[in-house]
Amino acid sequence: MTTASAPGKIILFGEHAVVYGRPALAVPVTQVRASATVSANSSGGVWIEAPNINLICELSHLASNHPLSAVINSLFSALRISRQPACTIHIESTIPVAAGLGSGAAVSVVILRALSAFLGQPLPDERVNELALEIEKLHHGSPSGIDNSVVTYAKPIYFIKGSPIRPCRVGKAFTIVIGDTGISALTKESVGALRKLWEAEPSHWDKVFDQIGKIVQNARRAIECGETTELGRLMDANHALLQEMTVSSLELDALVESARKAGALGAKLSGGGRGGNMIALVSTEKAASLAEALRTAGAKRTIISTIQSNYRARI
Ligand code: PMV
Repeated sequence: MTTASAPGKIILFGEHAVVYGRPALAVPVTQVRASATVSANSSGGVWIEAPNINLICELSHLASNHPLSAVINSLFSALRISRQPACTIHIESTIPVAAGLGSGAAVSVVILRALSAFLGQPLPDERVNELALEIEKLHHGSPSGIDNSVVTYAKPIYFIKGSPIRPCRVGKAFTIVIGDTGISALTKESVGALRKLWEAEPSHWDKVFDQIGKIVQNARRAIECGETTELGRLMDANHALLQEMTVSSLELDALVESARKAGALGAKLSGGGRGGNMIALVSTEKAASLAEALRTAGAKRTIISTIQSNYRARI
């Protein structure tokens, strides 16, 4: 029997501009996780059990573009497996689905790891990351690759599309509260809407993306040096630009505003926007009361996450 587990993720800075080659910062969210266990079965076939989505099914009965069959089949072809093993893949996840917390990427990563180990050919992280990106592409069009990267390496990362992944050193632990609007919004749609704006006026939007790129660089420095007040200010500045990019929403803005009123050092939407999550930076002592304030203001779920210091981080 083989098992693998991976955390959820949240984008701290730079979403959307990252699609246009600017840097972004993301961290794992260890409070929520996906795991996969692969064991031999005597009934034959590749069985998939995913109780969270009420699925028990043999691989050949799943549509070929289903995310689970896509990841399993892509692993079989990457490892040149012609005779499928008789095995059962059991998947569990506490990562909310379609909420910008990396649920899809985490499920892909754990299946790739547990199944490749079961087949006696465990994949290195780099290969897991590449294959997980291919699956992300099937479902999200042209993703930057930040989700699968942070989930694969389970470390804070400084990410530039197409460049080697760099760890983000954390000089001093900091705490964020993640607040979910409960409104599901497709990242593909907000990315597509921004693409139209950019096509109509590329020089204007390139300048906005450059401003975001600078914010991300400054945020990386602030995280390395443990300058939490500056980090909060940068979150506010990033949110203002995301609003200009039309990817915020009334609900996200209301939660961001409530967070600031409840003592956050800074707050912004996170991920695709127009729904989904926002994040607020807060002192550890104030985190629980801020989470409560967000729920009172309409957040459907809150997660408090402390990003630990890792000064010697390497990937
Ligand atoms: O919605 P999420 O958390 O998966 O984040 C999407 C991030 C974008 O920058 C908007 C898109 C991308 O592919 O990076």
